[in-house]
Amino acid sequence: MPSTPFEAAVQSNAAEQAKRPGFPLVQAWQGMELGTIRRHLVAALGSVGIDEAEDDARFLIADVLAPVSLAQALADPALWSWQAAARLADLAALRLERVPLSQVLGSKPFWTLDLKVTRDVLTPRADTEALVEAVLERCDHTPHHMLDLGTGSGAILAALLSERPGWTGQGVDLSPAALAVAKGNLEACELTRRATLVQGRWGDGLGDHGFDLIVSNPPYIASDVLAGLEPEVRDHEPALALDGGEDGLDAYRVIIADLPRLLRPGGSFALEIGFDQAAAVMALVQAAGLSALECLPDLAGHDRVVFGRAGSGNG
Ligand SMILES: C[S@@+](CC[C@H](N)C(=O)[O-])C[C@H]1O[C@@H](n2cnc3c(N)ncnc32)[C@H](O)[C@@H]1O
Repeated sequence: MPSTPFEAAVQSNAAEQAKRPGFPLVQAWQGMELGTIRRHLVAALGSVGIDEAEDDARFLIADVLAPVSLAQALADPALWSWQAAARLADLAALRLERVPLSQVLGSKPFWTLDLKVTRDVLTPRADTEALVEAVLERCDHTPHHMLDLGTGSGAILAALLSERPGWTGQGVDLSPAALAVAKGNLEACELTRRATLVQGRWGDGLGDHGFDLIVSNPPYIASDVLAGLEPEVRDHEPALALDGGEDGLDAYRVIIADLPRLLRPGGSFALEIGFDQAAAVMALVQAAGLSALECLPDLAGHDRVVFGRAGSGNG
């Protein structure tokens, strides 16, 4: 005789349940209360090398409990079901394989937005919020037509358009799968009326002097560094979003050389950079004849954003 609802469910549907990725975990959790499951999960996440095991366990449990809070469920065991445990086990099984938390949950907060994330896009990073902040501090509400080169999830484009209702924008990416994610995010943020998405290679095919502002967070990791990155990035994020070539600067060479052609006279640009790339990127910017250079830090104090303007008579 099954002694718990979970055992009853497994026995009535054994073949189906056994296919679930979290099946071994949820078997181990049988008879445990939520508090014990949480401690078990934190230990399991820590054992595979996840530093933020406590936080990750909290986010995973919150996801399966929502809208019930962890405190409510700990206080009232009736709010915790075997179905919730089985779903938690499925999510945990992915995280234990070092799938990024954002991909397990399917979304990531960025700026004031909650953006959909899949394995086809770079998870939007807190570092990139430094670029959004730098642009908003330097560009007022005057109508701008902006371009986001390598838009990925659409994070920068959506954040800037959400803050500047008079702006319009275009996102370009080489990856059609990334553009499908960006489209969903622009729809969810109700920005499709002011934004277009184009598949292409950086600025290729875009008209001359069409943009008041160009932003980009291009791939900037040197190719030989990629293999040493943490598994979440190395094995689960798109190489196209990461690999910046032999010295990490391949994309900057192409993008920066094209900025004077793409920008309107006096137009602005903001580029995210790796923490050790400021001098090299500034040199490329100067060689392209662009001016008013600033290098701005992220919250950790690392060089993160190069901001500048095209001359008033560029082109
Ligand atoms: C570092 S990710 C940035 C994604 C997003 N803008 C963000 O900040 O979260 C770089 C993006 O550039 C795109 N990309 C790479 N090479 C490209 C190319 N030659 N032309 C256009 N986009 C490219 C990748 O597909 C990826 O989405």
